[in-house]
Amino acid sequence: MMVIAPGGTDGSAIELLDARWLEEDPAAGRAFEALAGRLGIGLGWHYLLDLIWITRSLGPVHRLTILDAGAGLGVLQWWLAERGARVISVDRQDRSDLPMRFRLRYRVRGMRATDLKSVAALVADRWRDASRGPGKRMGGIVRSLGGAGLALLTPKAKGRIWLYQCELTDLRDVESESVDAVVSVSALEHNPPDVLAQIVPELLRVLKPGGMLLATLAATDGADWYHEPSRGWCYSEESLRRCFDLAPDVTSNYGAYAELFARLRASEVLRENLPAHYFQSGDNGMPWGIWDPKYMPVGVRVTKLAAGGDTGAPQEEEVL
Ligand SMILES: C[S@@+](CC[C@H](N)C(=O)[O-])C[C@H]1O[C@@H](n2cnc3c(N)ncnc32)[C@H](O)[C@@H]1O
Repeated sequence: MMVIAPGGTDGSAIELLDARWLEEDPAAGRAFEALAGRLGIGLGWHYLLDLIWITRSLGPVHRLTILDAGAGLGVLQWWLAERGARVISVDRQDRSDLPMRFRLRYRVRGMRATDLKSVAALVADRWRDASRGPGKRMGGIVRSLGGAGLALLTPKAKGRIWLYQCELTDLRDVESESVDAVVSVSALEHNPPDVLAQIVPELLRVLKPGGMLLATLAATDGADWYHEPSRGWCYSEESLRRCFDLAPDVTSNYGAYAELFARLRASEVLRENLPAHYFQSGDNGMPWGIWDPKYMPVGVRVTKLAAGGDTGAPQEEEVL
């Protein structure tokens, strides 16, 4: 049984993520691992907790429009599309040459023409790939054409995804109050506090009144610090309150930081399932695969108030 903290009067909350959830509900974590495996995506060392917290907080997503902030090629957008959501997938990275394995399973479009190359353009790219010999080049083209044919025939997930390459500080192609929820998995921490404070109002601008912003970031119980290997900031409770402009009555479990951090460090599920890519480099959140967490994942939930201060968010403790 997983208990989501009830939050302040408007349902907003700061919640350090509890490694115990993985033991309480192993099937939830395995479902995300299976999807990541099918799509060839490497998960971050704490992403199972992030994904469980976000998806449980969201509830049913069928027909909702959800903006995934700093989506990369991450699992969450595909998970949402499989459940019928319309996903605006935002990242500063160029994903226009999205591999066929995603196009085969999902209805993906570009927000603008430049955000996603057509399959024909992918095939043309292969043709221009001068570094390959003629035989290999022809093989690549045949594979791409085969993929294109398969893409037409393969049944797709119910939802849709629009790729949008831009900075989170400026979502100019997304109308104000047009999305039902904003989600973000371990992306906002790659921005210093002053930039995070600019991103949050932009995410709230596009959110409909009554909608939720659900973001996971890295937390520290001391002052903000920069974790060089993962190029990410670890945020204090004070900074999160300031950057997300949270009212004083918004609840936080930072008081239990030491206890939750000890549980995270002792988590066999996380330690034993450290993805293979961590062992190949020191340039990541768990250098060289040595189990030694330096920070905690934290979820920030913000409910955007409707006119008159109404949220429609549950005020009582929600038990899932
Ligand atoms: C650690 S990756 C996480 C990707 C994805 N959410 C997942 O679950 O795998 C962080 C992503 O956030 C993106 N990102 C961070 N800050 C951003 C910003 N200010 N504007 C756009 N994208 C940003 C990065 O480009 C990167 O793809």
